[in-house]
Amino acid sequence: MMNYLSVKDIDSITQWVSDARKLKEEPLKYRKLGSDKTIGLLFFNPSLRTRLSTQKAAQNLGMTTMVMNFDKEGWALEFEDGTIMDQGKSEHIKEAAQVISQFCDIIAIRAFASLEDKEKDKAEIVLNGFATYASVPIINMESSVGHPLQALADAITLEENKEHLNGRKPKVVLSWAPHPKALPHAVANSFVEMMQKQEADFIITHPRGYELDPEITANSSIEYDQAKAFEGADYIYTKNWSCFSDYGKVLSKDTSWMISKEKMALTNNAKFMHCLPVRRNVVVEDAVLDHPDSLVIEQANNRTFAAQTVLKKILENLKED
Ligand code: CP
Repeated sequence: MMNYLSVKDIDSITQWVSDARKLKEEPLKYRKLGSDKTIGLLFFNPSLRTRLSTQKAAQNLGMTTMVMNFDKEGWALEFEDGTIMDQGKSEHIKEAAQVISQFCDIIAIRAFASLEDKEKDKAEIVLNGFATYASVPIINMESSVGHPLQALADAITLEENKEHLNGRKPKVVLSWAPHPKALPHAVANSFVEMMQKQEADFIITHPRGYELDPEITANSSIEYDQAKAFEGADYIYTKNWSCFSDYGKVLSKDTSWMISKEKMALTNNAKFMHCLPVRRNVVVEDAVLDHPDSLVIEQANNRTFAAQTVLKKILENLKED
């Protein structure tokens, strides 16, 4: 059974991006593929893009969609084995996952990091709970550790916007930027994992203390001087994340790390990327976000074709089983 839990589930990023671009050209070509199938989208956290793009992708493939805001509409789930359930949790993941598997042919889940307990977050209790007890394929719509649908959409966007490179390897910078709240590491982690599958000069820049999980960044370069990292860059991908070592803490709100017109002037006319939602004039200046070189709306559009690529592969795999 094929799941899509992380970027590691992509066997060939080149092939998947090519498949996605073909689907983008003819989104309704496979509208019969999922005509007898249902996808359940379970949200433990808010969403705009993931929710609508995954529904759109499923509809393009002829699927029926069921959406549940699990945090508000479902019973509070217990994930620990052997617990005496005499407190606030009403239903165990063992029953919930099996029951939902009777109604849905694919289950997609959004469950963010708590940012309170690093080991529990790394264990991906919600995503892996469903992967363990459901009898149908599972898709990660952003978990504690990763956002692989976003990363695939970002890979499509990079590929579509490379004319200015004239065939050379791009310089891609992932830059931390300030934010008032503690945010998870999922988007940054999956972007790093996706970039590690690409031919690129890839650099991560952030203030000291904001190192991502070293198990994920082991093969990537880190430059603590943001201006130096930006020199000659072809793409600036911006994201805030909270501290990983002092888990979930906001160590810095240093506004000098905000992406500004002046910073973009250090680059090689770089394209600007962000997964959205983004806080204007905190993470990035209006002038950068509203510039023609900003790819953020196209990234969001590509979420449909990333999800459709994943769904198509899973549906084809189901037919083979
Ligand atoms: N980028 C992204 O996942 O957006 P949403 O949180 O709105 O789904």
